[in-house]
Amino acid sequence: MKKHSYFKHLCLGALLTAGMNWASTAQAEHIMKIDTRRMGASVQPTMYGLFFEDINFAADGGLYAELVKNRSFEFPQSLMGWTVQGNVEVRTDGPFDRCPHYVRLTDPLHYERRTGLVNEGFFGIGIAEGEDYRFSVWAKAPQGNAAIRVQLINPTSQKEQQEFTNDTIRINSAEWHRYELLIHAPLTERHAQLRIYLVGSETADLEHISLFPKATYNNRENGLRRDIVETLRDLHPGVMRFPGGCIVEGTNLQNRYQWKKTLGPVENRPLNRNRWESCFDYRSYPDYFQSCGLGYYEYFLLCEDIGAEPLPVMNVGMACQFQNWDNAYAHAPLESLQSYIDDCLDLIEFANGPADSQWGRVRADMGHPEPFHLKMIGVGNEQWGQFYFDRIPAFVKAIRARYPDIKIVGSSGPDSEGKMFDAGWKEMKRLGVDLVDEHFYRPEDWFLNSGLRYDSYDRRGPKVFAGEYACHGKGKKWNHYGTSILEAAFMTGMERNADIVHIAAYAPLLAHVDGWQWRPDLIWFDNLDVVRTTSYYVQQLFSNNRGTHVLSLTMDNRIVAGQEGQDSLFASAVADKNRGEVIIKVVNTGSYPQDITLQLQGLRGALPVDVTRLTHSGMDDENTIANQHLIEPTTSHLVTIGESKHSTLNDSVPAKSLTVYRIKMIRP
Ligand code: AHR
Repeated sequence: MKKHSYFKHLCLGALLTAGMNWASTAQAEHIMKIDTRRMGASVQPTMYGLFFEDINFAADGGLYAELVKNRSFEFPQSLMGWTVQGNVEVRTDGPFDRCPHYVRLTDPLHYERRTGLVNEGFFGIGIAEGEDYRFSVWAKAPQGNAAIRVQLINPTSQKEQQEFTNDTIRINSAEWHRYELLIHAPLTERHAQLRIYLVGSETADLEHISLFPKATYNNRENGLRRDIVETLRDLHPGVMRFPGGCIVEGTNLQNRYQWKKTLGPVENRPLNRNRWESCFDYRSYPDYFQSCGLGYYEYFLLCEDIGAEPLPVMNVGMACQFQNWDNAYAHAPLESLQSYIDDCLDLIEFANGPADSQWGRVRADMGHPEPFHLKMIGVGNEQWGQFYFDRIPAFVKAIRARYPDIKIVGSSGPDSEGKMFDAGWKEMKRLGVDLVDEHFYRPEDWFLNSGLRYDSYDRRGPKVFAGEYACHGKGKKWNHYGTSILEAAFMTGMERNADIVHIAAYAPLLAHVDGWQWRPDLIWFDNLDVVRTTSYYVQQLFSNNRGTHVLSLTMDNRIVAGQEGQDSLFASAVADKNRGEVIIKVVNTGSYPQDITLQLQGLRGALPVDVTRLTHSGMDDENTIANQHLIEPTTSHLVTIGESKHSTLNDSVPAKSLTVYRIKMIRP
């Protein structure tokens, strides 16, 4: 390991801070040659994507902006999430056949008592001062008239009143109707609750009690949290895989994800168990269900909103293999796969079919007559072994026959290498799927040593979808800066091999700070705030600088992937043909800064360079709700040295850093 001259770097640091060009003629030790004259493989627009799964309260309680938990009283314990007082009766002959429960509030017949109920929200209800909230309820008054009071409260308030809003709704019909109220928030409260109680002595029936911020993303009524969608959008994702993950499979086939049940009016979408609810004894959330208010239509809209290609993952007639191991009976018998196959074919029609086709009409009726332009479909989540190999061929055959242009994504299972992984790849090649979804949650040394992973991949078979990955620190399985830098190092290898790696997505995507089951995650949030982790910034730096074509980058004629003698450096280069720029990413995973010279073959003159750097000295640090901006990339500007043969740039890359150089390609 090269020892570093501190004096030199102090000077360099000062110059960089001042945004000046360091025009030293001294040759740095590490000369990286970037050949800008020959464009290599195309970088797919899908290259950096998202993987969304409803884990860690990512959907209900997270991205889906509904603030009321168990709004339709469909949880197995009908009043879970609600505290009741007085005469509250749960009834089951409501107006929505697939969500039949509702509550009847009757007079307690005692002047001091009240009948009402309070919803606790998802770890409270986040209310922001100055924002408007849309309260709605389906209600009827059996005697023709009734009234309810609707309040937002702070139950632990030290003020005179717990309530900070107070409204009344008059129910004036014995038939079910939807009533709505706009509530203006006078203050900010992270853990508010919603209180509703009967006013007067007339009975009221209430169903589907809902509260949304008015300002959802694109102001949709059944909308998504604006701040979270903006955070996703800022990643410029090329693709979004959804809805999972293991929830596609379910603990058993009964609670697998069934997209058809997630369409139509939200009031009548049946509740589903969330497979993550009690998956881990040590992080158990018995109140974690899927309302499916964020359903397939909303997923497609989200993809459209953030400019990501949709990549739905379909159940392949298998329940979660982790939860069922060798149990053949957990899966659909081979002769009963047709309805699962139909789900795939119908989904393609739902997304792309004309508005007068059976499923295209459903889409059109929901408000989107234009197709969603689906191009890919995943068959099976993280499947492996014979159960999978027995089932997937029928799906591939049927999809190919009806939709030959749709790309099919198969799985190589949960391992990053080894017997199971090899068997998966072999079978996927034999079947001729278009992409193979690889998953790897691996420790530091794996990421450090996998810089060359894709350089030796067979170029003749399916392409790679690195569909779920993250560096899980040994003994530190939570977000911290040190692992993010290793992810960056690994990603240079994916980028260099963009001819075979067509999509990559960090996983999981979202986590509620009060309701997570799995760490690390890309984005954390609470009821009011969103935190971009350092892994988020790594993803963003790659995604926003993905370029269009791979360029050759070598050091001593070798690929730069932390190899022997490379002083822990990793690097890759791409050209952005549209913007006329060269983009170089250099990662230093070592403990010392490294002097580098970027030699831009084919370019001459003094060229302007944007240098964006993610660097931090505390390896265990991370952005948090309390300290959201602790570690963020910063940008400065340099100019290359226009030497006679080619432009060069000298720089010092700090220890444990990712640097992105964007250089204008001005040809001699
Ligand atoms: O991302 C969390 C889980 O990891 C996914 O649900 C599953 O596909 C993988 O095992």
